[in-house]
Amino acid sequence: MLNISQLNVYYGESHILRNVDLNVTAGQMVCLIGRNGVGKTTLLKTIMGLLKPRLGTIKYKGEEIGKRTTDRRAKMGIGYVPQGREIIPRITVKENLLLGLEARPQGRKGKQDIPDHIFELFPVLKTMLSRMGGDLSGGQQQQLAIARALMGEPQLLLLDEPTEGIQPSIILEIENAVKGIIKTTGISVLLVEQHLHFVRQADRYYAMQKGGIVASGSTSELSQDVIQQFLAV
Ligand SMILES: Nc1ncnc2c1ncn2[C@@H]1O[C@H](COP(=O)(O)OP(=O)(O)O)[C@@H](O)[C@H]1O
Ligand SMILES: [Mg+2]
Repeated sequence: MLNISQLNVYYGESHILRNVDLNVTAGQMVCLIGRNGVGKTTLLKTIMGLLKPRLGTIKYKGEEIGKRTTDRRAKMGIGYVPQGREIIPRITVKENLLLGLEARPQGRKGKQDIPDHIFELFPVLKTMLSRMGGDLSGGQQQQLAIARALMGEPQLLLLDEPTEGIQPSIILEIENAVKGIIKTTGISVLLVEQHLHFVRQADRYYAMQKGGIVASGSTSELSQDVIQQFLAV
């Protein structure tokens, strides 16, 4: 589904990502872990085309996408929920959701309603459609951000720290929704996450340090050592 090979990314002259290799198989949830500032967000932004790599390749469904625009990548089926959510505060929840339609291959043409499965995953959104995005709690905004990405009908979903700064009861709701998405739609997920319980739901993990992948494997084999080294537990 996603094959990243020898990726090197710079901010100006600072070398951030170093020879990153990472793969996501169709239908898998893969988790990227690592301390603050190691380059996790930089990697997701590069996959989405918001940053350009200096070296290396990104293949999506077998096709090299390194030169595609962000819009094109979205329309090819890559959904992105950025760190910090980026909900538009001064439009309604419904309008925020409909914006997600832009990522469909046909854009906002055609049907403009919100499918039931979105509300099955996030029931709270149904009661809040006419509220302003900015009036929602942090947890509700995160649910809205994920729902908005799903409106684009992605096949690969990139989630950057969806539980950051969110109260524990809602963390579990988000975790269950992501699991539900994978089960019902079969899409693949690349998740950046710090909460161990959520990390364990993934099939595989990659651990990043100073912009390089330094460990990887099945999450069922996550050792105490790896957990202590790469997660803020
Ligand atoms: N816009 C930017 N310009 C310059 N350096 C940046 C920028 N954004 C992030 N960085 C640096 O790149 C490194 C990786 O950041 P980031 O990918 O956000 O890490 P993470 O998501 O793992 O916390 C950090 O050292 C950070 O200071
Ligand atoms: Mg980050």
